[in-house]
Amino acid sequence: MLDTDAWWRDAVIYQVYPRSFADSDGDGMGDLPGITGRLHHLQELGIDAVWLSPFYPSPQHDAGYDVADYRGVDPRFGGLGDADKLIAEAHSRGIKVIVDLVPNHTSSEHAWFQAALAAGPGSPERERYIFRSSGEEPPNSWTSVFGGSAWERLPDGEWYLHLFDVSQPDLNWDNPEVRAEFLDILRFWLDRGVDGFRVDVAHGLVKEANLTDWTTTSTILGGLDPAGPPPPMWDQEGVHEIYQSWRRVLDEYPGGRILVAEAWVAPASRLARYVRPDEMHQAFNFPYLDAPWRPAELRTVIDETLEANDAVGATTTWVLSNHDVVRHASRLGFPIGTPRMPGIGAEDPQPDAALGLRRARAATLLMLGLPGSAYLYQGEELGLPEHTTMPDEFREDPAWERSGHAERGRDGCRVPLPWEADAPSYGFGPSDASWLPQPGIWAEYALDRQQGVPGSTWELYRTALSLRREHGLGRGSVAWQEDAFAFRNGDVLVLTNFGSEPVELPSGARLLVSSEPLDGDGRVPTDVTVWAAL
Ligand code: NOJ
Repeated sequence: MLDTDAWWRDAVIYQVYPRSFADSDGDGMGDLPGITGRLHHLQELGIDAVWLSPFYPSPQHDAGYDVADYRGVDPRFGGLGDADKLIAEAHSRGIKVIVDLVPNHTSSEHAWFQAALAAGPGSPERERYIFRSSGEEPPNSWTSVFGGSAWERLPDGEWYLHLFDVSQPDLNWDNPEVRAEFLDILRFWLDRGVDGFRVDVAHGLVKEANLTDWTTTSTILGGLDPAGPPPPMWDQEGVHEIYQSWRRVLDEYPGGRILVAEAWVAPASRLARYVRPDEMHQAFNFPYLDAPWRPAELRTVIDETLEANDAVGATTTWVLSNHDVVRHASRLGFPIGTPRMPGIGAEDPQPDAALGLRRARAATLLMLGLPGSAYLYQGEELGLPEHTTMPDEFREDPAWERSGHAERGRDGCRVPLPWEADAPSYGFGPSDASWLPQPGIWAEYALDRQQGVPGSTWELYRTALSLRREHGLGRGSVAWQEDAFAFRNGDVLVLTNFGSEPVELPSGARLLVSSEPLDGDGRVPTDVTVWAAL
C-alpha cells in the first residue's frame, strides 16, 4: 500500500562508511563506538537517517562487502552490543538506521562456502552457490566487475561464479534454502531495531538459467545499455519476486522499515520497477550521479526519473557521491563531460580543486532542492575532495589488482574523515593511525575549522537541510521556469547558473541560501545555485 506520509519519501540519508568515519580505539580502523560517539554531529547537521556500509565479520577482501557472517559484527568494528548501542543512540537523537545487506554473494570464508568446498561436486552444499563442471575452460565468457574472468576453478575441477572478487562467490537464488536464510537475516536485524536495508547489487541475484555467453564488461555503477540486448546476469525478471517477499516481512514491523536498491539498471522506467508499491521503497538514481554538469542533460535526467517514479507512486532518490565513485567535489573539477573515472592516481590528470568544490556545492544545493529523498556520503558535508595522489602501495580495493593496475580503484574516496585540524589523524581517532593515508590538506577541511564559519561547506549543508525541511522541498514538485535553469518547488525558486554571465533573480525574490556569495549587484554568478523565496 502506498503510504504518502512515510518518513523515507523525503528523507536525507547520510552514508557512514564505518572503516573511515571515526576510530574509538586508535587502531586506525573506524568502528561502531566511534560512530556512536560522533552521532551528535549528524544530528546537528540535520539528517534523517544513516546508512551504514557493512560492519559484519569479513576477511575484508572487498572492504566488508564480502560477508562471512550476516548476524554478527566484525571484531575490528566492535560487537553486537555496540551495534545495539549505536541503534539506540541514533534513535534517541531522532536518526533512523539503515544497514547494508549483501545478498548476491557471500565471502569465501562464509560457513556455507567452506562447507561447499569440503563437500565436493554434486553435493547439496554446492547447490547454494553457482558451481559448474566445464573442463579446462570456464563455463562461459562472463567477466568479473573487478576485472578478469568471473569463474574460478577449484582443484577438484569445478568452477564457481564470482561476479565480483574471487573471494565473493555468487549465491544460487534458485535454491529455497538461500531464500529462507535471507528472510531470517532480515528478521534478525529488524528485531534489533534497524529501520531498513540498503540492498547491494540488487539487480544481480538471479541469473539467466542457461548462463548465456556475454562479453560486455560491467563496471561499478555502470548503467546497462538501454538499447542493447539484456545481459544474462543483471536485472532478470526473477529478482522482483524476491523483493516482494522481503517487503511482506518488512511490513510486519512497525515504523516504516525500508529497502533501498543499489541497482545499475537503465532506463529509468526499468529501475522504477524495483520501487513498485509492493517491492522496495527507494532505488539510487545513478544516472543523476553520472549526468554531466550541463543544464540540458540534468533537466532530462530529472524529468525522466521523476516521471518514471511517479508512474509507480515512488519518490526519487538522488545521490551524488558514495564509497564507489570519485567524490563529486573532484569529479566536477574535470572538464565538463569527462566520463567518471575508476579512481585517480598521482600520475593521472588532476582535477581543478577550487572549481570542483564550487560546482559540488552548487550541485548539492540543486539536489537538495529537488523533491524526494537524497543520500549524502560522509565527508561531502565538509567539501572533501578525493585523495587523488595516494601512493599506490596503500591501495586495498580489489579492482586495483584484478584490473592489472589499469584501475586505481575506490580507495581515494574512502580516506578517514578529518574532525579536528590539529589532532592526530585529524581527530579520526586517538592515535596517528589511519588505514589509508590522509592527505596533508585534510586540516583545512576538518569539521572544527568549519563549524560556525559562515560560507563553510558544513554550514551550507546545515542551512540547506534546515530550509529544505522548513519549506517542505522533499514533498514538493518541480515546475520549470523559462529563461534559466530554474524550477519552482512550492514557495521556493531553485536556480543554478550554468552560463558564463551572471543571472538576475526575479524581482521580489528573497534569497534563502546560495552556494557562493552573489555578486556585487545581487546577481547569481556562474556555477552557483540559489534558493529564493517567492
Ligand atoms: C556494490 C558496493 O557498493 C561495492 O562497494 C561492492 O564492491 C560491490 N557492490 C560488491 O559487493
